[in-house]
Amino acid sequence: MKYFIANWKANKSIKDALFWLKIFFQKPFINTKAKIIICPPYPLLYPLAEKIKNFSNIYLGTQNISEFDSGSFTGEVPGLIVKDLVQYTLIGHSERRKYFLETEEQIEKKIIQAKKNQIEPILCIRGKQDRINPIASIIAYEPDYAIGTGFNENPEEVIATKKKLSLKPKTLFLYGGSINEDNAKDYLKYQEIDGLLVGNCSLDPFKFRQIIDSC
Ligand code: PGA
Repeated sequence: MKYFIANWKANKSIKDALFWLKIFFQKPFINTKAKIIICPPYPLLYPLAEKIKNFSNIYLGTQNISEFDSGSFTGEVPGLIVKDLVQYTLIGHSERRKYFLETEEQIEKKIIQAKKNQIEPILCIRGKQDRINPIASIIAYEPDYAIGTGFNENPEEVIATKKKLSLKPKTLFLYGGSINEDNAKDYLKYQEIDGLLVGNCSLDPFKFRQIIDSC
């Protein structure tokens, strides 16, 4: 079983998202063992949830979660509000750390909020410099230089980094950073890599399907 996560970031209108789904489901899946998690912007969660409810291997995730409980926190989206729509959430993505100055303390609170609301956190780390909270059982390793640049880290280096992280047994380890329909298979052949977190290429339903079916 490999994980395939689509991180749409701040892209797609509702119309674009529904069109994406139509294309994505156009032909039967070759890889029936894939676990697919789509992480769209918040307003797309409900329309997508309605469309995917009959597919057992497709899940939804948020790209972030509030560190707060629900209450007077203008602009925040706490776990309680999305818990009926999503099964997963990304936490600590490098863009959150870079543009929104998320700290390790905030990331820790977000992981706790996710768990409290039965949402599985996918903790994104840039390398050994980022704290790995032992309660996160899915880690997505995304070196900064590889995100959106076309310079993916080669699988052997990714596996070497994994070894240095001394993860708890059974922790799932995903890679992200310039994954595309040509290089995905190079990662998926290793049992040390449990899946891929895909940004740019996940915006195109044909390419994302190719990535999944290359496993
Ligand atoms: P990328 O983004 O695939 O466009 O490099 C990955 C990510 O930011 O999760």
